[in-house]
Amino acid sequence: MRLRNVRGSEEIISAHPFTIQTDGADAEQFKGNWQKEIFGNFNPIHLEIGMGKGQFLIKMAALHPEINFIGIEKYSSVLVRAVEKLDALKLGNIRFLRMDAEDLEDFFSAGEIEKIYLNFSDPWPKVRHAKRRLTSAHFLEKYEYILVKNGLIQFKTDNRPLFDFSLEQLEKTGWYQEEVSFHLHENGPAENNVMTEYEEKFYRSGNPICRFLARKPN
Ligand SMILES: C[S@@+](CC[C@H](N)C(=O)[O-])C[C@H]1O[C@@H](n2cnc3c(N)ncnc32)[C@H](O)[C@@H]1O
Repeated sequence: MRLRNVRGSEEIISAHPFTIQTDGADAEQFKGNWQKEIFGNFNPIHLEIGMGKGQFLIKMAALHPEINFIGIEKYSSVLVRAVEKLDALKLGNIRFLRMDAEDLEDFFSAGEIEKIYLNFSDPWPKVRHAKRRLTSAHFLEKYEYILVKNGLIQFKTDNRPLFDFSLEQLEKTGWYQEEVSFHLHENGPAENNVMTEYEEKFYRSGNPICRFLARKPN
């Protein structure tokens, strides 16, 4: 979903008070300080990795003022679309980070996050790129570090091979599968589910959407 050359996107992100351009940022300033220093409260933190244009996270933040939400997106050209949406709202419980999930442990300390959302993550279909999938054992290890005890991951995708791969990775690394659905919206839009941009598109085309909730190993 990379949008090329959105003019001024990096400047817009850098200038916005709720958005952090991680290039050149002092990671230590953030690590371990999200609740007290950045949000100014001790509410739990939920993270979306690969948030795209932000529809899911912004709706979640509006629905749950008792939770702090952080969205991570690799590309400024995509993230800037989420920043534009933020301006029309008055939400104190949301922040965006322009960064690669590879660097998670630099910006978050052990046990700082309660729940991670992975929505319609890039499938990286070639076997040689499997490590780049956000549900690979490589990333699960990072999530295990930043999540609280009993912390959760929720993953949604319409890509069945990616979903099957992800379930295998959970099993291999000792995560507990709490809920698994291979057709979330079989009987119409699922209850208590906020749709992402990609999800709306796939739902309209009739693609079955898979979702799991997994708890980190003890
Ligand atoms: C297919 S889009 C889905 C966007 C959104 N979650 C949705 O469901 O509508 C995947 C997004 O994840 C971002 N992404 C992929 N790998 C990433 C990584 N390693 N770190 C941060 N963002 C990443 C991509 O740039 C892209 O915007």
